[in-house]
Amino acid sequence: MSAGEVYSIQAVFFPHIRPAGIKPVPPGIHGGRTHLTGPPQPHEGADVDAIQLLIQDHGDAKKALQVVEDARGGAKKELFAALARDLKVHNRVEENLFYPAVRGFVETAGYAPADREAHQSVEKALLRLKALPVDDPHWATVFDLMRTQLLRHIADEETHLFPKVRSYLDDAKLQELGKRMKLEKDRLMAPV
Ligand SMILES: [Fe+2]
Ligand SMILES: [Fe+2]
Repeated sequence: MSAGEVYSIQAVFFPHIRPAGIKPVPPGIHGGRTHLTGPPQPHEGADVDAIQLLIQDHGDAKKALQVVEDARGGAKKELFAALARDLKVHNRVEENLFYPAVRGFVETAGYAPADREAHQSVEKALLRLKALPVDDPHWATVFDLMRTQLLRHIADEETHLFPKVRSYLDDAKLQELGKRMKLEKDRLMAPV
């Protein structure tokens, strides 16, 4: 798999696995997983819940962390590059659309600044990793640090933020937001 391909770790290694609790996506409907399932598909008629979209990304990222850790040499480098790209796209989608949509509510207003900080810490570690050879002795240490930060942030969003958002936004609003987030994800993943 070359670094230029849009196929991701999840699609290559776990094509049939879907995180528990996520509704199966009907054939032909993309479900917001453009970068995780292959080339872009038509969006028309897609039924996407914003929170499900983010939880799918989180599940894929968790699996990808293990895949990258287990890989060696050139494969490790390429798999890491795919993971880093997917994480950055996920962060931009949250920052550009999801956090702004919920900052007007009392209980979720304070989340965006802290979450942006968490994203920055993870992305700083990703940059450090990108600059190091994968066989450098420091690589695994920095990777562990990044994984710890990322998993803590994911747990925080899923345990605290998402349930609050669900209490503020009804299904129709979450689906409308999900559609916009999916389009943003497609835009960010599109080859330039
Ligand atoms: Fe986040
Ligand atoms: Fe997230």
